[in-house]
Amino acid sequence: MNTLDAIARRRSIRKYKAEQIKDADLEQIIKAGKIAPNAGPFQISVIQNAELLNKISAVSVQAMKDSGIKMMVSRAEIPGFDPLYGAPTLVVLSGSAKNPYSLANIAAAGANMTIAATALGLGSCLMATPELGFKADAALAALAGIPEGNAVILCVTLGYAAEDVKIPDRAETDNVNYVR
Ligand SMILES: Cc1cc2nc3c(=O)[nH]c(=O)nc-3n(C[C@H](O)[C@H](O)[C@H](O)COP(=O)(O)O)c2cc1C
Repeated sequence: MNTLDAIARRRSIRKYKAEQIKDADLEQIIKAGKIAPNAGPFQISVIQNAELLNKISAVSVQAMKDSGIKMMVSRAEIPGFDPLYGAPTLVVLSGSAKNPYSLANIAAAGANMTIAATALGLGSCLMATPELGFKADAALAALAGIPEGNAVILCVTLGYAAEDVKIPDRAETDNVNYVR
């Protein structure tokens, strides 16, 4: 798949098979994150431990319920809601709160990783909600090997899309202007 096709085909996948992704694919996706444009360091933590994934999910659901944000609360209250969507791999992206570019660094890395995942035939979702869980329970960061002083900014789920996933077309947005 060429790069433009991978960009066009990438969609947020919210239901995964339990099957783990291949290490060789994971390494290519991680490399795509590492070589994204960046202005300063950031950390890529790969979590494939089922117990820790379940813990991050459970703490994040509770944090969504406690957030007071209507959209978050209503999603978290759906019975059985899993903010990680059953993905067998979660990539946690963290950076120093002192670097004003941490968010931009991590967004660029996350975008590269989701495009690489698409090119490799994997599903992915760039997401913010687990950040609420990491904020609510500091012990999670230590368990995930996140360097001290780093804040979790975004996560990327990785896995094979479940068979019944239906991917809607992206609506055309009108958010471009040209000055020539
Ligand atoms: C900064 C950011 C945070 C996001 N957080 C979440 C999230 O917490 N959970 C989720 O399911 N999707 C999340 N998304 C995915 C968006 O909902 C999705 O990209 C958007 O609806 C467009 O759909 P598409 O990715 O399938 O093209 C996030 C996307 C971005 C850029």
